Amino acid sequence: MKLGILTSGGDAPGMNAAIRAAVRKCLFHGHQVYGFKRGFLGLMNGEYLRMDSRMVGGILSRGGTILLTARAPEFKTEEGIAKGVKVFQDLGLDALIVIGGNGSQTGAFELCKRGIPVIGIASTIDNDLWGTDKTIGFDTAVNNAMNAIDKIRDTATSHERVFVVEVMGRDVGFIAMHCGIAVGADEIVIPEIPYHLPQLSQKIKDSFHLGKKHFIIVLAEGVEKAPQFSQKLFEASGIEAKISTLGYLQRGGDPSYTDRFLATTFGVKAAEAAINGESGKIVGIRHHEVCFLEMSDTVGKVKKVKTELYQLTEVLGI
Ligand code: F6P
Repeated sequence: MKLGILTSGGDAPGMNAAIRAAVRKCLFHGHQVYGFKRGFLGLMNGEYLRMDSRMVGGILSRGGTILLTARAPEFKTEEGIAKGVKVFQDLGLDALIVIGGNGSQTGAFELCKRGIPVIGIASTIDNDLWGTDKTIGFDTAVNNAMNAIDKIRDTATSHERVFVVEVMGRDVGFIAMHCGIAVGADEIVIPEIPYHLPQLSQKIKDSFHLGKKHFIIVLAEGVEKAPQFSQKLFEASGIEAKISTLGYLQRGGDPSYTDRFLATTFGVKAAEAAINGESGKIVGIRHHEVCFLEMSDTVGKVKKVKTELYQLTEVLGI
C-alpha cells in the first residue's frame, strides 16, 4: 500500500513521535509512506517525500514537526480541496493520516466526504478536540506554562505584586485551568466562565490583607489579551498588575513522557486503521484507552473545560 501522512495547523510537542510511530508501523508491514510538507499546503501543491525508517530516527524526543506545518485557508475552498484530491489520486495513494487539531480534522473530513480514506490523529496543545480526553501536545504545553509561572511567582512574591499571566488557548481554557491549578494560581480566567472585576478586585485586596505576598491571575488568551485585562482591572479598582504573555514558548520544547507515549500509541493505531482500510476516524483516548472518534461526530464541535474545576481556586486560594 501507499500511505500519505501530514501534520497541520499549530504544531504540538509529540507530533514527531506520532510521525515516527505511524511511519515505522507502515514500513514494518512492507508499505510505502509519503510525507507531505506543510500540511494541506503540501498536499495541494504536491510537495512530498518518500519516507524511510532513518528519516524518523532521533525525532521521538524533539518538539515541532519534521514535516513542517502551516495554516492553509485555501484548503477551506472547493478548489483547494479538489487540488488535494488530485494529488492524492495522481500519486496512487491508498490512505492519508492527518495529525492535527480541530481545523485540520475538519479538512480531513472534507477529504473523506470526497471518497479519500483518511485517519486523523488528535493533536493540539489546546486540548479542545471533541470526544478525546487528551490531545498530543497538551501535557507538554501545560508543563511549559507551569514552569514559567513558577518563576514568575518568585519575583511576584519578592515585590508583593499582582501578575496577569496570559497563556494560550484560542477558544477554550484547558491550558489556563490545568497550569493554573498546578501552580496554585489565585484566579483563573477562561472563556467558559464570565469574570467579574469588582469581585476579583475585592479578592485581591482581601488576599493581601490576609498576608499573601502575591496574586497570580492566569488568563486564557481566548478571553482577552493581558494588557487589556490589566487595564480594565486598573480602571475598575486602581490595582496595578504586571503582565506576562507566555506565547509560543508553550508550544515548543521536548515532549513530555505523557505526550511521547500518547503520540506513539496514537501513531501506531492510526497506521493500523489506515492499513486495514478504515476511514473517517480520529485516534484519541477515552478513560485511558486509545480509541477511535467518528469524524462525523467530532468535527464542528469544541470540547470545553469542566467548570467544576474552577471551584478549586476558590477553596484553595484562601
Ligand atoms: O495550536 C493552537 C494555538 O497555539 C492556539 O493556542 C493559539 O491561539 C494559536 O494556535 C496560534 O496560532 P498561530 O500559530 O497561527 O499563531
